[in-house]
Amino acid sequence: MQNIWDELSDHQSNVQARKISELFENDKRAAEYSVKTDGMLFDFSKTNIDSTALNTLLSLAKGANLVAKRDAMFQGDAINETEGRAVLHTALRNVNGTPVLVDGQDVMPDVLATLARMESFAEDVRSGAFMGQGGAITDVVNIGIGGSDLGPAMAVRALTAFADGPRVHFVSNVDGADVADTLAGLDPTTTMVIVASKTFTTIETMTNATTARDWMAKSVANTGAQFAALSTSAEKTSEFGISAERVFGFEDWVGGRYSLWGPIGLSIMLSVGAEDFRSFLAGGEAMDKHFTQANLAENMPVLLALVGIWHHQVCGYPTRAVLPYEQRLGRLAAYFQQLEMESNGKGVAMSGDDLPMPAGPIVWGEPGTNGQHAFYQLIHQGRQVIPCEFMIGAKGQEAELAHHHDLLVANCLAQSEALMLGRDLETARGLMAQKGLSGDELERQARHRVFTGNRPSTTLVYPSLTPFVLGQIIALYEHRVFVEGVIMGINSFDQWGVELGKELATALEPMVQGKESADHKDGSTQSLLKFISRS
Ligand code: F6P
Repeated sequence: MQNIWDELSDHQSNVQARKISELFENDKRAAEYSVKTDGMLFDFSKTNIDSTALNTLLSLAKGANLVAKRDAMFQGDAINETEGRAVLHTALRNVNGTPVLVDGQDVMPDVLATLARMESFAEDVRSGAFMGQGGAITDVVNIGIGGSDLGPAMAVRALTAFADGPRVHFVSNVDGADVADTLAGLDPTTTMVIVASKTFTTIETMTNATTARDWMAKSVANTGAQFAALSTSAEKTSEFGISAERVFGFEDWVGGRYSLWGPIGLSIMLSVGAEDFRSFLAGGEAMDKHFTQANLAENMPVLLALVGIWHHQVCGYPTRAVLPYEQRLGRLAAYFQQLEMESNGKGVAMSGDDLPMPAGPIVWGEPGTNGQHAFYQLIHQGRQVIPCEFMIGAKGQEAELAHHHDLLVANCLAQSEALMLGRDLETARGLMAQKGLSGDELERQARHRVFTGNRPSTTLVYPSLTPFVLGQIIALYEHRVFVEGVIMGINSFDQWGVELGKELATALEPMVQGKESADHKDGSTQSLLKFISRS
């Protein structure tokens, strides 16, 4: 593998000064450096990747045994080696029930039975057959954090155009402001609380769940009847007082950040209904089929991953921006931050050896056009190169506001064009001359108006943001993360890096409360504790 990395690095050094725009002298470039599947187009032609780079990147994927590793994941091998678990979120969207074996046992009957129970419960809540003490459920509060919050919160917002159920709210932060602000104004007698926690031990979630139960107990005689739980731990949900008929379980082979396809997605189903939820699953499944069946060179998740590897590991760009031109994807970047950075933000290989290069980039972003009026300045003229991943629907959801959508599309395409073409000094001088400037002032002002250009971006175009398309997008990025992880030789499915802070927080709580001495702590922590206790 090292020789392939060396080839990539040598090639990158040779071509880095080349203009991306010149690659379009090949008038088939847009077609050759893009891929389509099920109505979706991924265009990576506005990058500096040429046929040598692409073929070498593909050799990297082959050298990492990507196909065998992909198949091992789908067939239920314990590829999460540091936790000894299979990785089978794909089984949750395998709605036709093709057997999937874990330790020789087909998991599909249980998956489908739980999906059917969720559907029946969701329809009862939505129709009013299931009622709170004060009548039909008007509001649902999902209490969870990380994967038990970000996925459903992102998806419920994304599918606003399809929402016809109770209002859905999300509480995640242990900051009491989150639960207080969310519950304020809700009627406890018509509110359903969903406690979403794979482990049912997460301190933030259990603290918020207890606070919500206390809030409800002031007005509702049997609070447990208005609570549901989504968890792998039947024992702990029962200890919390939630009756088994409203507990929707799943297995440890569903990672938290991959869990919105199953019970953790109950709030999505309550919002949009069972049929649209199935359509979301079908979108994910369609991307699974493409990922498992298409040749690597025509495989959207593989190509998206290879573009990521080219920009981060080969070119050394430390971050990438996710820029959906879709207001309802306002939480997508936050969701991708967990998906990508909790999965691939690793320093050691599966073997335990140190990685020779960073494994995962910093992921960030915001919907356009808002981002244009905030951080795009740096993207266009800052010294760092930030590869941008644009996303846009061919059509919006608001048929009567098509003129808004035309503007949105124009802005999205304009940004990738501007990033690639830039504006040279001569052109900037011409513009200043037209404004009547001359001499030193013309020169000075012109320099501020230069765009170096040659900045890479990709564009994902989908028909419109339906449940099916959302499923495709999420599965596309899940598999992208997997492919990048395989190429880097890491375990994308554990998250040991979040543990140390949790342990220290548990130990610090009694010191914050003044119940224990903090004398053994470092000087900074002691001084912070003192300042806080005296404030
Ligand atoms: O903090 C990390 C993490 O374990 C995530 O991976 C997970 O999504 C989140 O906490 C919540 O965990 P749980 O669903 O068990 O409450």
